[in-house]
Amino acid sequence: MPISASSRPILVIGSVNMDLIATCDRLPAPGETVAGAGFRTAPGGKGANQAAAAARLGARVSLAGCVGRDAFGRRLRAGLRADGVDTMFLRGVAEPTGTALIAVDAAGRNQIVVVPGANARCDAALVDRALAAAPAPGLLLLQHEIPPEAVAHAVRAGADRGWFVVLNPAPARAVPAALLARIDLIVPNETEAAALTGQPVRDRRDAEAAARTLLAGGARAALITLGAAGALYMDGAAVRFVDPVPVRAVDTTGAGDSFLGAYAAARAAGGSLAESLGFAAAAAALSATRPGAREALPTRAEVEQFRSPGTIGPDND
Ligand code: RIB
Repeated sequence: MPISASSRPILVIGSVNMDLIATCDRLPAPGETVAGAGFRTAPGGKGANQAAAAARLGARVSLAGCVGRDAFGRRLRAGLRADGVDTMFLRGVAEPTGTALIAVDAAGRNQIVVVPGANARCDAALVDRALAAAPAPGLLLLQHEIPPEAVAHAVRAGADRGWFVVLNPAPARAVPAALLARIDLIVPNETEAAALTGQPVRDRRDAEAAARTLLAGGARAALITLGAAGALYMDGAAVRFVDPVPVRAVDTTGAGDSFLGAYAAARAAGGSLAESLGFAAAAAALSATRPGAREALPTRAEVEQFRSPGTIGPDND
């Protein structure tokens, strides 16, 4: 499965954030103040993370979105370019660049508050321009950190033009039935799957039930990520469990973005379903062993080394 410039193109239409990260022993309860151990800023945003994840693995990726005409925006644009992401449709707007306030505890768990800022300026016109400029339809990746109207327009316009439409419904918000019916693959985590279906998702059996509900609602396929418990894929023909890759997690922020970016890169390169799911699980596990979201995303060589026997990896870490 060589991922290269001849793979199908990936277009991400989504958010670009600067992450403001505090580390602490434990996450604060509502109303509580806890002492932090450290602070830093780092590139983030689910759209940008997924774009960078796929590009770092060798895929041909464009990102359409909005950043402010400010220092954060300039730094984020430069970082995406350095990762090999085409930023031709990354607009500079008057609003400040989106930010995410992230607390990470000693066990690698996080709490995130996202402030959309410039991301709120993503609109149908930007979607249309980005789709029109693409040389050929490929995989279209969408998330919920830009306005619902822009996501809805991208789903419809992408499907009309023959793109394989993937929606990562994060953060959780309702997906109208008419839109779900135009989505080729929906990729929620357990919390988002529960919010979308109204069913609790605690384990693989729950995930299977939730995936059936999503397919009954019109989605062609569902891929539910379950953190340390792996993932579940379902389409009209197959149900497949993805075994977790056990690692000592340092920071799980962006692990879902790593998983989806890697899955898209592998599928765009013609990888089989099983191959692509295994590759994505390894990439996500590897990213959870490192701090940060974007900073933690692995290269292709790192994922291959991680998976190969005899190296520091899932079986002998
Ligand atoms: O998925 C992780 C991302 O969520 C962070 O980078 C943060 O920006 C938020 O968008």
